Amino acid sequence: MADQNRQWRLKTTPHGPIDDDTFTSTSEDVPEPGDGEALVAVQWLSMDPTIRGWLERDTYVPKIQEGEVVRGLGIGEVVASKSDRYAVGDLVSGTTGWQEFAIADEGDRRMQVVPAGTDPLDAVGLLGPTGLAAYFGLLRVGQPEEGDTVLVSGAAGATGSVAGQIAKLKGCTVIGTAGSDDKCARVVDHYGFDACINYKTERVSSRLRELAPDGIDVFFDNVGGDVLEAGLANLALHARIAVCGAISQYDGGTPRGPRNYMNLVVKRARMEGFLIFDHVRDYRLAMGDLTTWASEGRIRHEVDVVEGFDNVPAAFQRLFTGDKVGKNAVHLT
Ligand SMILES: NC(=O)c1ccc[n+]([C@@H]2O[C@H](COP(=O)([O-])OP(=O)(O)OC[C@H]3O[C@@H](n4cnc5c(N)ncnc54)[C@H](OP(=O)(O)O)[C@@H]3O)[C@@H](O)[C@H]2O)c1
Repeated sequence: MADQNRQWRLKTTPHGPIDDDTFTSTSEDVPEPGDGEALVAVQWLSMDPTIRGWLERDTYVPKIQEGEVVRGLGIGEVVASKSDRYAVGDLVSGTTGWQEFAIADEGDRRMQVVPAGTDPLDAVGLLGPTGLAAYFGLLRVGQPEEGDTVLVSGAAGATGSVAGQIAKLKGCTVIGTAGSDDKCARVVDHYGFDACINYKTERVSSRLRELAPDGIDVFFDNVGGDVLEAGLANLALHARIAVCGAISQYDGGTPRGPRNYMNLVVKRARMEGFLIFDHVRDYRLAMGDLTTWASEGRIRHEVDVVEGFDNVPAAFQRLFTGDKVGKNAVHLT
């Protein structure tokens, strides 16, 4: 086992697009687990857009301070343990941070043992925050009914691709938006959406009018900005908008809200944000359903893997350039 623990730390708080000055790598001795703790060798890091918010401001968790190891979800193997909760060889999932070794404290419920037999790629993707966000956001907040028309932005991504496939399972017509013709083709041909709009080359609002003349009943929004406004402009009566995120507003300075939010009044619609943590008691239920649907071939899910510790910042940047498909993760060992 290595005796050094490489880490990525926040160097400079970003106020616009992240760049080479945002992160810095450091190295320190691998920590010794104390009583009630285990040492985890981190194998996979989940690249999640929400980290971009944590780098800059307090959100539902405190801001990451300059000099701190970047907070983030990881999957790893227990390699030493002084805890009854973690056995050597267990696969665990939780807030490891962007580093090669992490301490799991048995009192910290943010680190969970992954059920034996689970593929680590499933733990990081389909059964991780993005799959759970798709499940709870669509079903609990969007509440689709058979025959509804559902719009999913960020449709080629980890969360959007799963949300749209669940909507198809529920008997809905599903329209996606994505950032290239290739991605749109994949959204339709591979993930089974009924249509997909390239928001970079097409006029989203007028395409929606053509594709959904009776309006959108459920809008699962990952993107915000112009795409959110296009969705708001095409709501059906009593529509539900599940606000999962707003990635178009994370990395570019001051975020802006939708100018046409009064359509919520006109259409007596509901717009509601959510976090997966609101549903923590039902994670097992969601994971069970997602696993069943995947094993039946009714949900497809891929992890786009970047290899190596040195490439963590570049992998994170791909979330904002769109230069990836499916779930974005880094393989450390
Ligand atoms: N509420 C929750 O509990 C929760 C949990 C997990 C994730 N989320 C949210 O879910 C959303 C998706 O996260 P993810 O991990 O699944 O990421 P992802 O969709 O796999 O990757 C991000 C994608 O966003 C698109 N994008 C980037 N910049 C954009 C822009 N300026 N305008 C429009 N699209 C842009 C890119 O796709 P294109 O090439 O198609 O542009 C990129 O591939 C994020 O907003 C995230 O914060 C919320």
